[in-house]
Amino acid sequence: MSTTPIDNNSRAPVTVRTLRHMKEEGEKIAMLTAYDASFAHVLAEAGVDIVLVGDSLGMVVQGHDTTVPVRVDDMVYHTRCVAARAGHMLIMADMPFMSFRDPVHALDNATRLMQEGGAHMVKLEGAVTEVVAALAGQGIPVCGHLGLQPQSIHKLGGYRVQGRDSEAAAAMREDALRMQDAGADMILLECVPVDVAREISEELAVPTIGIGAGPHCDGQVLVLQDLLGITPGRRPRFAQDFLSESTEPGGIPAAIARYVTAVKEGRFPDARHSFE
Ligand code: KIV
Repeated sequence: MSTTPIDNNSRAPVTVRTLRHMKEEGEKIAMLTAYDASFAHVLAEAGVDIVLVGDSLGMVVQGHDTTVPVRVDDMVYHTRCVAARAGHMLIMADMPFMSFRDPVHALDNATRLMQEGGAHMVKLEGAVTEVVAALAGQGIPVCGHLGLQPQSIHKLGGYRVQGRDSEAAAAMREDALRMQDAGADMILLECVPVDVAREISEELAVPTIGIGAGPHCDGQVLVLQDLLGITPGRRPRFAQDFLSESTEPGGIPAAIARYVTAVKEGRFPDARHSFE
């Protein structure tokens, strides 16, 4: 175990204002998931802007087949672990399945994620504008999650690209605008055709973050395990193994730094990771 002093706090904290400014300036936002303090520290050192404590932890940490079993207690615990070493990064925590089914539950559970977990922003799946308005009205930063919504996997019947036909694409654009109007500070787009994500990103004043949504979003996110090539089974098309697909030294910290640089320079994602 290293006794080297930890200093990942030298950069100014990333806030919602920083993120808006980055969008205005055309600087890409690098976001990545983490679920514990050790990796949070590595991400901060690598220059990640936003750490997402995703409910993907249900799959990559807990070993479930979906994110549905994840509980608010799990999210609070892992958010607290990440917050211990998050340095300058903005900490975004997922609101798990059924934890935001009405404004009262959403307010109670977001309060726990912020007060007990140390989150700075919460993310929730779906065009739940009433809930977003309630959270935003209490000063809680919110990221909406549109496109593929893994918490609805049993209803969707599979992980598929969303918004491919013109009607679905128009509905998604409408939803994104309504979420912004309700007070969302950011919109995450998962598995969305490149052109639909580009149009939404151009229309919104708040930043968009893509995963499988092409290069025109204002930022990108990956699940850490996908980036490290340790996802069980087949790696999703939108992911890249930044660890083993490089001959450079430096192990995991260098792989994460390569991801950050590739996002900032607009080299990731490219057409191989995107959907038409
Ligand atoms: O839970 C998660 O990690 C996520 C990403 C897939 C964006 O929501």
